[in-house]
Amino acid sequence: MAQNGIAIIDYGSQYTQLIARRIRSMRVYSEIHAPAIPLARVMEASPKGLILSGGPSSVLGKDAPKLPEWFDGWEYPVLGICYGMQLLAQHAGAPVESSPVGEYGHTIIKLHGDSELFRGLPRELRVWMSHGDKVLDAWPGTDVIASSDDCAVAALADRCGSMYGVQFHPEVIHTNRGDEILRNFLFGICRCRPSWEAGSIIEEKTEEIRRTVGSGRVICGVSGGVDSTVTACLVDRAVGDRLVCVFVDNGLLREGEAAYVVDLLNRQLSSPLVFVDTSTRFLECLRGVADPEEKRKRIGSLFIDVFEEVSRERGPVDFLAQGTLYPDRIESASTVGPSATIKSHHNVGGLPDDLSFRLVEPLSLLFKDEVREIGAALGLPREQLMRHPFPGPGLAVRVVGEVTAEKLAILRQADRIFIDGLKRWRLYDEVWQAGAILLPVRSVGVMGDARTYEYVAVLRAVTSTDGMTADWAKLDTGFLQEISNRIINSVNGVNRVVYDISSKPPSTIEWE
Ligand code: XMP
Repeated sequence: MAQNGIAIIDYGSQYTQLIARRIRSMRVYSEIHAPAIPLARVMEASPKGLILSGGPSSVLGKDAPKLPEWFDGWEYPVLGICYGMQLLAQHAGAPVESSPVGEYGHTIIKLHGDSELFRGLPRELRVWMSHGDKVLDAWPGTDVIASSDDCAVAALADRCGSMYGVQFHPEVIHTNRGDEILRNFLFGICRCRPSWEAGSIIEEKTEEIRRTVGSGRVICGVSGGVDSTVTACLVDRAVGDRLVCVFVDNGLLREGEAAYVVDLLNRQLSSPLVFVDTSTRFLECLRGVADPEEKRKRIGSLFIDVFEEVSRERGPVDFLAQGTLYPDRIESASTVGPSATIKSHHNVGGLPDDLSFRLVEPLSLLFKDEVREIGAALGLPREQLMRHPFPGPGLAVRVVGEVTAEKLAILRQADRIFIDGLKRWRLYDEVWQAGAILLPVRSVGVMGDARTYEYVAVLRAVTSTDGMTADWAKLDTGFLQEISNRIINSVNGVNRVVYDISSKPPSTIEWE
């Protein structure tokens, strides 16, 4: 592989993923690594530059994460951001001070000299600072290239143009012209080429899958979501009819979903989709279970059982293809990041240790927006690519308490009215995810002249970029009123509709 792209060392900043996304949006491949990563692993992607991220630690702390042990032998340009710059200073023996009052928020910096990093920028910039420690002075061979009233060294550079440090965060939108700073680093300093694009990723991934799978056979479960659909299409492209694609109808899907997915996938794949109707088995295994974690466990293990049965019938199968994305992988690999455990429950119970397949995960280095782009380049319809995320355990997590066929039927109708309404009002693409939830609570109402005693349905709609944090969507009250009326008037079993106005954190998107 030709030398290109950027390696990012993660020191635990909440912005590390953002650095990678910004760089990839400039069509340059970037990968995030823990500080202890061996050099050989970093070089697998042949990077042309290194970024040291920010992080919550103090370089002066006893257990502060260090520079990679191979750092002294690194031959390409380096950019240290915040904690990363302080590490560079400490490594050079320059003074770093822990100030009692940190600097957080917007600051104006003044640029000095004509550094390549700031090429094309005005002499003053509004930037985003978030730091406690600060570097007190440049060290031999380096110059201060920006400063602010509170920070004498807001940015510095060495004289051979291969090492840069910035105290602020160019990757966040609050830094004016931050993208240009990153661009200058990528294209001016590291001389990267903008070659990371859907077409080249598809070629690369297809080749990779072919190499991994050899003459083996692959099974892939599809849910109709973007990730599993794109995974299936990529594997199909690589191995054709040696892919067995399975759609398990677990009876926990939304209205019309099974038919939609079967039709969509059958138009995309070279071999017909294997459709397994297991609704009664899933309902049976959920009977009497109200605890959300127990529901998840039972659904997860039944999923695997069904999979193994299908692969025995259609076998032999050597590989299991999954649509794991990059953020999931980073979370589990992060050494110092703050969010390591938040998403542990999202693998539908997780895979058993004695799984009889090897894994193929073609999307494991990609972000959701990149997966959508690949999907578009593979010819998947826009409606499919822009579908809201839907949890693996399906409506079981949206029927709070025990799941019954009756409650599922009620929830399906309410959900359809809500989602159809969002599409009709052109609000569907404005929100990141939406769905209805059925509470195990009945309340009194009056219809005509009669007293009713029926369930409460919740409408949940959020805005988000990755599901890790979310805000409740400020939907039009006229819209909410229409949906509430429609649900109460047409769904038997619901006489009250409420709208969830909680953000994540401290709430979550799903109710469970
Ligand atoms: P929470 O409820 O934790 O959800 O705020 C965050 C996002 O993850 C989705 N989710 C899942 N996705 N398998 C999935 O593939 C799961 O088990 C699962 N549980 C939650 C949820 O819908 C939201 O988009």
